[in-house]
Amino acid sequence: MSASKRYTITAALPYTNGPIHIGHLAGVYVPADIYARYKRLTGNDVAFICGSDEHGVPITIKAKKEGVTPQDIVDKYHAIIKKSFEDFGITFDNYSRTSAKTHHDTASEFFMTLYNKHEFVEEVTEQLYDEEANQFLADRFVTGTCPKCGNEEAYGDQCENCGTSLNATDLINPKSAITGNVPTLKETKHWFLPLNKHEAFLKEWILKGHKKDWKPNVYGQVKSWIDDGLRPRAVTRDLDWGIPVPIPGGEGKVLYVWFDAPIGYISATKEWAAREGKDWEPYWKDEHTKLVHFIGKDNIVFHCIIFPAMLKAEGSYILPDNVPANEFLNLEGNKLSTSKNWAVWLPDYLEDFPNEQDVLRYALTANAPESKDNDFTWKDFQARNNNELVAIFGNFINRVVVLTHKYYDGVVP
Ligand code: MF3
Ligand code: ZN
Repeated sequence: MSASKRYTITAALPYTNGPIHIGHLAGVYVPADIYARYKRLTGNDVAFICGSDEHGVPITIKAKKEGVTPQDIVDKYHAIIKKSFEDFGITFDNYSRTSAKTHHDTASEFFMTLYNKHEFVEEVTEQLYDEEANQFLADRFVTGTCPKCGNEEAYGDQCENCGTSLNATDLINPKSAITGNVPTLKETKHWFLPLNKHEAFLKEWILKGHKKDWKPNVYGQVKSWIDDGLRPRAVTRDLDWGIPVPIPGGEGKVLYVWFDAPIGYISATKEWAAREGKDWEPYWKDEHTKLVHFIGKDNIVFHCIIFPAMLKAEGSYILPDNVPANEFLNLEGNKLSTSKNWAVWLPDYLEDFPNEQDVLRYALTANAPESKDNDFTWKDFQARNNNELVAIFGNFINRVVVLTHKYYDGVVP
């Protein structure tokens, strides 16, 4: 066994706009849990961190649809998600939430530090605006054609088809997700993180560093973005749901959800350390600590480029050692979708199979979408249970126990 090391293991903070489904489990939470359990069993010091991502447009959209407040939505789904992870046996050391005061304070402070270090560029630019809804359109409030791959349903901050991170004004034929109208342009002030300024460092760190041991899908995506050239990215938004921009001129604006959410890993670690009577800082600032982010493939740019650039600009944090991102799991041949309600929801599974957590863990692990998208079918689930767990594994255990009784009086020699 190798010497004990300190590990900060994070699993992507799920959006609180719906329950967890098997795609989330297979891609992120089960692999992360296996890794955390393994690192603990082999004698390491582990902080396994997660929590609810409660800001961002998906939550506002869900609230609008249901005619309730965003706070109602996050309270409802935070409770559902937290409980289902517990019942399923995911062993987070802390499951926090980004509406927590510790998080608001930590994220504001982080923003202030970058602001005071002149790490932002402040600029008035024209942004997409919905005249009927009286609102700026950013992120998922606007869809359009991806300039890179032609996907017609790209969002204002990202195309989920090719993974490219976008500015809303990059979209071809943009359309408001609120009214369906064609947006107009309106001037507004925002703070930008000049990723171009960090390009040299990112190249050095990822391309020339030791990142060749990253998964090929992760390394390949990151390399192609860096090769395309990086541009400044707005880290503030004209929205009313989120963490207020804590500087003069920031009134009525909030932090971009992808600015505050990864800082949630830090706040959740602080909350855990306070509860356990530990010091949080070595988990984020000691260069011997290994920081590992488990994510889905649509999160790669945020964890491999934007968050590391933020951490580097802040100056006192370590950078991730690895970012294992998985591909997607489909269900019976079709893409899983929260909005289209095409999923096996974890709370439903736990209701139907209250004592069969391990069967699902096994099926999702045996068929994990590690290097390509995979398909989950109930037929395969049944076959793995009956043929592999019951027949092969069950039979193996049965023989070992019977023979141990027969020849060794039931005691392991
Ligand atoms: N909520 C995002 C998603 O579901 C993931 C956020 S990960 C974090 O895609 F780093 F921002 F926390
Ligand atoms: Zn695309």
